[in-house]
Amino acid sequence: MSHRKVDTNELQPGMVTSSDIYCSRSGVLLLKKGTVFHQAVINYLQNMDPEAVIYIEEGLDDTTNMTGSPREKFDPFYCDEKKELEGSIGQIHTIPSEVADEETKKIYIQAYKTINEIYKNRKIKPYIKEIFEVLDYLVKKLSVNPEMMLQVALLKKIENYCLSHSINVCVFAAYLGKLLGMDIVTLKELSLAGIMHDIGKLDISPEILRKKGLLTDKEFESIKLHSLHSFIRLASVENVGKDVLNGVLQHHERSDGSGYLHGLKGNDIHLWGRILGIVDVFDAVTSERSYRNSVSQHEGLEMLLSNSFQFDQNLLSLFIKNISFYPIGSRVLLNTGETGIVTGIHRHIPFRPIVKIQNKNKSGERVVDLSEQLTLFIEKIILD
Ligand SMILES: [Fe+2]
Repeated sequence: MSHRKVDTNELQPGMVTSSDIYCSRSGVLLLKKGTVFHQAVINYLQNMDPEAVIYIEEGLDDTTNMTGSPREKFDPFYCDEKKELEGSIGQIHTIPSEVADEETKKIYIQAYKTINEIYKNRKIKPYIKEIFEVLDYLVKKLSVNPEMMLQVALLKKIENYCLSHSINVCVFAAYLGKLLGMDIVTLKELSLAGIMHDIGKLDISPEILRKKGLLTDKEFESIKLHSLHSFIRLASVENVGKDVLNGVLQHHERSDGSGYLHGLKGNDIHLWGRILGIVDVFDAVTSERSYRNSVSQHEGLEMLLSNSFQFDQNLLSLFIKNISFYPIGSRVLLNTGETGIVTGIHRHIPFRPIVKIQNKNKSGERVVDLSEQLTLFIEKIILD
């Protein structure tokens, strides 16, 4: 198979990268070898790094040769309903007790069941009391002991992407709100905006949402309207405040004006829209589900950070600095194939902890500080 060099402005949907692509300024990995370009990926790369050096496979620019779905790999909108929901809920019981206590699991499962009912029955009103009750528990628990709730969200143990993403955005948004000093009542409202931010997808054609191939411009325009539909659906429900409505309406606006629906910039975007924008993308890029076979959690996070100009810098750094990706004592798999135990955390570089690694031949152990060993990184937490 031969390959050729192309500029970002020559990229066409269906082309396939023949090598990893790194940012020409920061050296951060942008795309992995074998990535199939579709329009959203092209836009992403052209925005991120117009000078990037790109090599593509010759003769592999037919979209029928794609393996898997590009939308599944790159698009947080992607929703696979084939997963049995009950089976997915069952998996949460496998989370070890040192990661989350029974109360946390119970709250998470209840939130999952309620949001599942809302999506299944396509109605918010009959469940609004129930969802407020769940969020009341969730926010109170998060206020007292955020670590456990965050770890459940970070572990991504529920496989249905749409539903787990809704809850994770809710948890991360409430956590960021707590870091900002919001009171319990406000946090409950913010968590409602988080769990409902994508409810407007119910108004987008399922064929478009589930489409495996490339989206046409018209289809993408249709998908963009989901934040407006979320707004409209929530606006018809009693007791839903203006901040919630503005948050869901503006969760795809970006600080540099590149977002939608209105291309708002900076602080013209409502605070809750800025919060939801960060945690929405954070959960999407750190989710193996949406980036399966494409980028690891670590790479996804670096992609988010290298795209940080799209977000409120203060909010983003506050959030990232306060997330403990790998709690002390957790078993992790490294990119070398070795396993280790996390023994220390750097508060300001939470995704590069200190790890005690078992040597490959089991001849002993060594302690490695990942903040100093930049070629080493954690692929994932190992749950037995
Ligand atoms: Fe969205």
